[in-house]
Amino acid sequence: METGKLVVLGLVMAGLMLEGSRAISLCDMNDEGIEACKPSVTQPNPVDPTPVCCEALKGANLSCLCSYKNSMWLPSLGIDPALAMALPAKCNLDMPPDC
Ligand SMILES: *[C@@H]1O[C@H](CO)[C@@H](O)[C@H](O)[C@H]1NC(C)=O
Repeated sequence: METGKLVVLGLVMAGLMLEGSRAISLCDMNDEGIEACKPSVTQPNPVDPTPVCCEALKGANLSCLCSYKNSMWLPSLGIDPALAMALPAKCNLDMPPDC
C-alpha cells in the first residue's frame, strides 16, 4: 500500500518534471521548434536563429507569443523575453503591430 503510493507520487513528479522541460507547446510551436530556438533566446550567449528555428517560428502564433512578453513563464523556461520578442525579426518575420 505505502509502496504503491510512493510509486504514484514518483510518477507524478516525473511527469511534472517532464512537463517543465520537454512536453511543452508554446503558441503553436512544438517542442522541437522550441528546442531549436532555445539557444537563440537564452542568456548569456544567444546565437542567431537556425533555419529550423525560423521555420518553427513561421508556424507559430506571434500574437500569442507577444502576450507572454511580460509573463514570468518564459523566464521560468530559461527564455529571455526580450530575446524572444526580437527573434521573429531575426527570421525576417514581423511581430504583430500591437505587440
Ligand atoms: C493567436 O493567439 C491569440 C492570443 O492568444 C489568439 O487570440 C488567436 O486566436 C490566436 N490565433 C490563431 C490563428 O491561433
